[in-house]
Amino acid sequence: MSERRIDRLTSLLRRRGVVLPSFEIYGGVSGLVDYGPVGARIKRKVVDSWIDHWTSQGDIVEVDSPTLTPESVLVASGHVGEFNDLMVSCNSCESAFRADHLLENVHQNPDSLSVDEVSSLLSQGISCPACSEAKWSDVRPMNLMFSTRIGAMSRGRSAYMRPETAQGMFMLYPALFRHFKQKLPFGAVQTGKGYRNEISPRQGMIRLREFDMAELEYFIDPESPPCPELSIWSTPVMMVPDPEGHHAGECEMTYEDALSKGIIRHPTVAWFLARTMDFLVNVGVEPSKIRFRQHSGSEMAHYAEDCWDCELHGEHGWVECVGIANRTCHDLESHERASGSKLLRAWRQYDEPKNEVKDFLAPISAVIGPAFKGQAGAVVESLSQLTELPENIPFDLELTDGSSVRITEEMVTRRTDEVTVHGEWFTPHVIEPAFGIDRIVWHILDHAFTETEKEGEPYSVMRLNSRVAPYDVAVLPLFDKPGMLKIAHDVITRVNSVPGRKGEMDSSKSIGRRYARVDEIGVPWAVTIDHDSMEDGTVTVRRRDDQKQIRCSVDELIDTLSNGDLSTMF
Ligand code: ATP
Ligand code: GLY
Repeated sequence: MSERRIDRLTSLLRRRGVVLPSFEIYGGVSGLVDYGPVGARIKRKVVDSWIDHWTSQGDIVEVDSPTLTPESVLVASGHVGEFNDLMVSCNSCESAFRADHLLENVHQNPDSLSVDEVSSLLSQGISCPACSEAKWSDVRPMNLMFSTRIGAMSRGRSAYMRPETAQGMFMLYPALFRHFKQKLPFGAVQTGKGYRNEISPRQGMIRLREFDMAELEYFIDPESPPCPELSIWSTPVMMVPDPEGHHAGECEMTYEDALSKGIIRHPTVAWFLARTMDFLVNVGVEPSKIRFRQHSGSEMAHYAEDCWDCELHGEHGWVECVGIANRTCHDLESHERASGSKLLRAWRQYDEPKNEVKDFLAPISAVIGPAFKGQAGAVVESLSQLTELPENIPFDLELTDGSSVRITEEMVTRRTDEVTVHGEWFTPHVIEPAFGIDRIVWHILDHAFTETEKEGEPYSVMRLNSRVAPYDVAVLPLFDKPGMLKIAHDVITRVNSVPGRKGEMDSSKSIGRRYARVDEIGVPWAVTIDHDSMEDGTVTVRRRDDQKQIRCSVDELIDTLSNGDLSTMF
């Protein structure tokens, strides 16, 4: 047996079809993993719990956009220019590394260093982890996106595999604005693959080249940001505030305190920290192994203002698993500039109307009415809400439903007048929690993995909670006999017909080996079918965590599974 806990855990995950290296028969590809039959169920349950957690609120909906993204979108978002990591290669053995990873033991925050600072630290005797030489190439930025083309030959357009799901949600902003009846705040969630050509993938599921993201974009009016009640979270949490903000070291504090002291800089960000903690604890992350670390100014992503990493502790030390950022109006404004769309804004109604002297295009109803018929009202409304008047007429006017119409000279007159203004258009700000599902799944497994002894032998139990356990129950016929197998099949069919429940049957080898197998993959309940089951329709239910057993009828088992938790029977 391996000496290290992490190796024993990794080997269990591989052996039991939880997480395995991809394309292994061809030698594998670093940074890519497969979820096997057990792992895929665990991941699916984590993702479903995540979607339920956020959409239960009512002002957040799920969307789904393409992973292929045209270059123009990612130029505007800043990813083509700035989504880089600094890389360096060893002149002796040619291994390539992410430069900040080589400096983790010599600098507190190597991610924040410039090219010159990194080069200078490397030249002070940092040796290559592969060959121990200290001869480095120039440090240079490498863009992390996978490039591709959409379409063939000269008609093809440059594109990238999305590095985050967020841009898809910014593209959908006009549809979301309509869906929420033009009223902020509202949000969208999206789960799916993200792609990053990481320079040196390592640490198993922590640094992948294709991984599952779960992101939420919450659109708000920056002048009246949502300030949800924080006092309901009274337990202090571990925080590591920005050292450049003069708050020293790790401390324990409530979200409310951190906000009132100006450590968390935005009330909606504070609320997302709290809700993120709730989600992680619900899916089985150990609360004492969660902390929030604030980015310093130099570490922050190109788009962000206040940014916190939610880090989880496990076999790889502290690892960022969620990034919570105030992205401000960066993305919507950049896309407005680059695309010319006028649909990336929201309307702010003034408390009192104001009188202003304004240039405007007055609609000539006698022309607009017959020209646009049913759409005429929408055309007049959009004309009144133009923030910049076009230099030339004719021009295309965008309507709030996403369509556009051609406005010609005879439809409008330019006027300057004192007008009553009821509100203004502005670009919403965005608060974004971005979750890495693979890193979270890893930490759930790491925290659940418990090693004990049974009859003098090592014994592993995965103490997954029922929200993320791969199966609700394992059905184990004591012997491979037709009568018992039939009852076991009936029980499985009835379990699987309860909405949201799934069972697995295991009839091979001794009952002890079978209990061990279901304990290893974290099934919380084992249901054993024995001789008495054939006589009186009762079964034994065994609880994974203390191996306590009770006897009940199959009807009682199914009723309890349908209406609650089997723990109520103990
Ligand atoms: P890191 O500094 O570790 O590279 P990041 O700051 O680039 O991470 P974000 O851009 O904030 O990460 O991405 C959001 C989330 O996506 C992260 O919190 C993490 O959980 C996940 N994530 C990012 N890169 C990877 C990766 N290569 N493999 C697996 N998950 C990742
Ligand atoms: N959407 C957050 C990130 O990818 O960095």
